[in-house]
Amino acid sequence: MPATDNNTQRAIGVFDSGIGGLSVLRAMRAEMPHERFIYWSDSAFAPYGERSDEFVIERSHFITEQLIAKGNVKSVVVACNTATAVAIESLRQKFAQLPFVGVEPALKPSVQISKTGRVGVVGTHATLQSVRFEKLLHKVQTDAAPASCEFIVQPCQGLALAIEKQTEKLQTDTLEVEQLCRQYLKAMGTFGNEPGQIDTLVLGCTHYVFVEDILQQLVGPHVSIISTGSAVARQAHRLSVNATPDGQVDLVPNSESTLKDQTTNAIQLWTTGSLGALQHAADRWLNLPAQNCHWIAPSEH
Ligand code: DGL
Repeated sequence: MPATDNNTQRAIGVFDSGIGGLSVLRAMRAEMPHERFIYWSDSAFAPYGERSDEFVIERSHFITEQLIAKGNVKSVVVACNTATAVAIESLRQKFAQLPFVGVEPALKPSVQISKTGRVGVVGTHATLQSVRFEKLLHKVQTDAAPASCEFIVQPCQGLALAIEKQTEKLQTDTLEVEQLCRQYLKAMGTFGNEPGQIDTLVLGCTHYVFVEDILQQLVGPHVSIISTGSAVARQAHRLSVNATPDGQVDLVPNSESTLKDQTTNAIQLWTTGSLGALQHAADRWLNLPAQNCHWIAPSEH
């Protein structure tokens, strides 16, 4: 397995149940073009949204240990709403020295954006059923009062897996994904900018970013679709700032050698699933060559 040299700039670790977190990595790369990243796609166990909390917590701990042991990471971005919802608190407890950034559905910004006061939220069952999401929803509604905003929450069972499979088979045929999107959007009600219609759609799963075009076509041009990649990238950027002993802050240096490395070794992608699928996704969404992608044993599970 490739590892980051201790003597060079340390990487930011990123993980997801599969390829969905590449949408967050794409935003982070745009925000921090000279940063190093190690991405773990746990595709052998996707989707997390249909797994037990215990399973997701165990995998999240295992992956973090691997990122520390083999990648010497300086922080970890949990690029998965499901793993954030069920595991980030225990990760922060167990790895107390390591900063974590999580992702969660962008409910707060959606309140500012919506004019009709009706906001749709799509995500996995595990995310939308979690205590963390319930608390977030409650907080956003309380903060928004006395103005009111109604959230129409729709779990999309099978959608993350369909997106994963589509990449795995290297398909260009999006029929299954389209059918699922249509079915779930229909169940939420009517979309548009007229009173009573849902005018804002929050993507509460990092996989769904890759089908944003399909979703936009289905909901129409007057509906705003909100994802979290850029906000997470800005937060991860703040954390990539190194504190010096005298309390000053220093941006991670962008030396010439760092810049040279950027093209070859600065982004390493690992998968426990299909290497071909990861290579395809890396090429399609991040324009990265196959040599940056590696297979890694999924461990004893
Ligand atoms: N991409 C993930 C999320 O944001 C997980 C989807 C899944 O594995 O079910 O929730």
